[in-house]
Amino acid sequence: MSLFVAEDISISFGGIKAVQDVSFTVEGGEVFSIVGPNGAGKTTIFNLISRIYDVDQGTLTFDGQDITRVPTYVVPEMGIARTFQNTELFDQETVLKNLLIGCHVHRQSNFFSDLLFLPSVRRQELAFRQRVEDVIDLLDLQRYRDQVIANLPYGVRKMVEVARALCVQPKLLLLDEPSSGLNPEETEDLSFWLEDINGDLGITIVMVEHDMNLVALASDRVMALADGALVAIGTPSEVQNHPEVLRAYLGD
Ligand SMILES: Nc1ncnc2c1ncn2[C@@H]1O[C@H](COP(=O)(O)OP(=O)(O)OP(=O)(O)O)[C@@H](O)[C@H]1O
Ligand SMILES: [Mg+2]
Repeated sequence: MSLFVAEDISISFGGIKAVQDVSFTVEGGEVFSIVGPNGAGKTTIFNLISRIYDVDQGTLTFDGQDITRVPTYVVPEMGIARTFQNTELFDQETVLKNLLIGCHVHRQSNFFSDLLFLPSVRRQELAFRQRVEDVIDLLDLQRYRDQVIANLPYGVRKMVEVARALCVQPKLLLLDEPSSGLNPEETEDLSFWLEDINGDLGITIVMVEHDMNLVALASDRVMALADGALVAIGTPSEVQNHPEVLRAYLGD
């Protein structure tokens, strides 16, 4: 059984068909990349999966469950975490605080148990702290842990966003252009982190990415989109050499 299935999904905004009849599967354990020119519908697909937008038609299945109409807040609880094309962190808070907030999707307390600071709440808080420390170690963010986001270089902020997504302990991690704005050295580091996240933690990754070297290096399979429609799915080299993909990028 595939971990994730999109079947004939479509969405339009006014007259623009942002995604039209796109179907694909993501297998557990793979790195699956989505590529395509600007405006192809890549981020929209992430917004459909994370349930920020409703599909006009089609279905989304995750881990055997129909998630087509689940509320947005359920998505991380089910095991899907994401990053955003333009990082969305709490800029005036520290790295540590941002990561702790990331953990709280799995919170099992309520207002009264919080108020009384019951032992169960304390235990959960300790578990969250431990999880955050593990993620900080994994992505080598120790030296930034107590720094405020606004003071950090862009490349570090992008990694903090990945870290926050990992605090959700996802089965499926959606990364929207993780290498954009990174220098070549940071991009190379990113490719190693992706290997660790996928290989060591066993997390399935779907990544929207423009850097074709990174795509070829990191992905098991690639899907190319153009103008909202699926152009090709296959191995990185199959997709990169596909005549329709070349036409989508270069024109006739
Ligand atoms: N909320 C929205 N309202 C109106 N139009 C939208 C909305 N979201 C996306 N679109 C349109 O849908 C199309 C696909 O946009 P999308 O952001 O998915 O592209 P993308 O492939 O992620 O591009 P890029 O590489 O530039 O990030 C574009 O024409 C965009 O303008
Ligand atoms: Mg986008």
